[in-house]
Amino acid sequence: MTIATEACASRHRDHLVRLQKAYTDLLSEHGFDAVAIYSGHARSHYADDQQASFAAYGHFIHWTGAASHQHDWLLIRPGHSPQWFYYAPADFWHLATPAPKGVFADFMTLTPHEQPQALPASVASGSRLAVIGDVDPQALPEGATGNPPALCHALDELRLYKDAHERHCLFVANQIALEGHRAARAAFTAGGAELDAQLAYLSASRQRESELPYQNIVGVNAHAGTLHYQHYDKYAPDKPRSLLVDAGHRHLGYCADITRTWTGSEADPLFSALIDGVTHFQQRLIEGLAPGVDFVALHERMHQHLAELLIATDLVDASVEAAVESGLTRAFCPHGLGHSLGVQVHDVAGRQRDASGTPLPPPARDPALRLTRPLEAGMVVTLEPGLYVIPMLLAPFREGRHASVVDWAAVDRLANHGGIRIEDNVMITANGYDNLTQAEP
Ligand code: GLY
Ligand code: MN
Ligand code: MN
Repeated sequence: MTIATEACASRHRDHLVRLQKAYTDLLSEHGFDAVAIYSGHARSHYADDQQASFAAYGHFIHWTGAASHQHDWLLIRPGHSPQWFYYAPADFWHLATPAPKGVFADFMTLTPHEQPQALPASVASGSRLAVIGDVDPQALPEGATGNPPALCHALDELRLYKDAHERHCLFVANQIALEGHRAARAAFTAGGAELDAQLAYLSASRQRESELPYQNIVGVNAHAGTLHYQHYDKYAPDKPRSLLVDAGHRHLGYCADITRTWTGSEADPLFSALIDGVTHFQQRLIEGLAPGVDFVALHERMHQHLAELLIATDLVDASVEAAVESGLTRAFCPHGLGHSLGVQVHDVAGRQRDASGTPLPPPARDPALRLTRPLEAGMVVTLEPGLYVIPMLLAPFREGRHASVVDWAAVDRLANHGGIRIEDNVMITANGYDNLTQAEP
């Protein structure tokens, strides 16, 4: 083993030890002797034998990193090695799943099993058993409790704080995703269409589309203004003005979620200045990250920076306060500043006060904000301010008392550039932050 792989293995083992200790405490606290975690399985299309792409249940990935495993079970019992029942039926249609290797072989009991969906019989007889995941409640063994909410809230809370193994996985996922972003940009600059940028991204980041942690958003020109634009145009535009790529990668289960926006050869200079402006204030927001920072307040700060940029570029003629309070900045950026990131791209526990699961809803005017709690060391969050021309949201401001506040001619010139989003993935540390989207020194 090289020193690097030894360090990886040691971090990985520490991660499993941490989970075993945390699960032991939580099972005792919530009155269970054991928990069985189901990975889940893909569903077939209606009246068809073809299946949708699949991602395993988050709590299963938290232990295993195995986002593609279907029909697997994990049994966690205090005082025993975790037992991983991996689905390996005798099947000549598909390649059999190999036994998990590496640290798992030392730390877990690995047992092949053959029954799809069903909890292995040897587990079904346990007393005070919790069963979590996408399980048919009718199929629970007698006496078992399916998805007990209090335990699930506490396990979600555990996912919020990342250890050294998880930090490393997220960093590697980011570095590989950045390779993809570079290639997507080059494909666009060379005259490619959205589909060319997407294929270049997949090729450079060595992944098939079904492995992505979310469907990549690759928007050229006005498409960059549709927040979750879901198509890949096969034809390059006559006038390339902009490209927005929001694209990720998984490493050992952990997700990158990175967005970059670039100008095309026909871009309006104002659009270029706005990309610089959003990039600049995104970095300023990141520089303010530390334990204790209230993410709702930081989201509000994003709106102030956005107002300052709109005013500095003469798109808006108003005070910062008026631009924010009138709702104008929210018409230019209707999504949240960021969210928790982990084994799911929009990771769990962002809107609960603590392990009790007490809801912490977003402010009424920010319904899309997915993270509403103060930051703490170990959290990994995205920082993703945006600025878009979304005609549906701007329409109310074209009339009435705000009509003269906005330079509508400039806004209309920008509409065929769509919008801008700049997104990095950042870990909160004891003293500040660690930007996982930047190359390590
Ligand atoms: N890629 C989805 C998001 O940024 O939240
Ligand atoms: Mn994203
Ligand atoms: Mn995101």
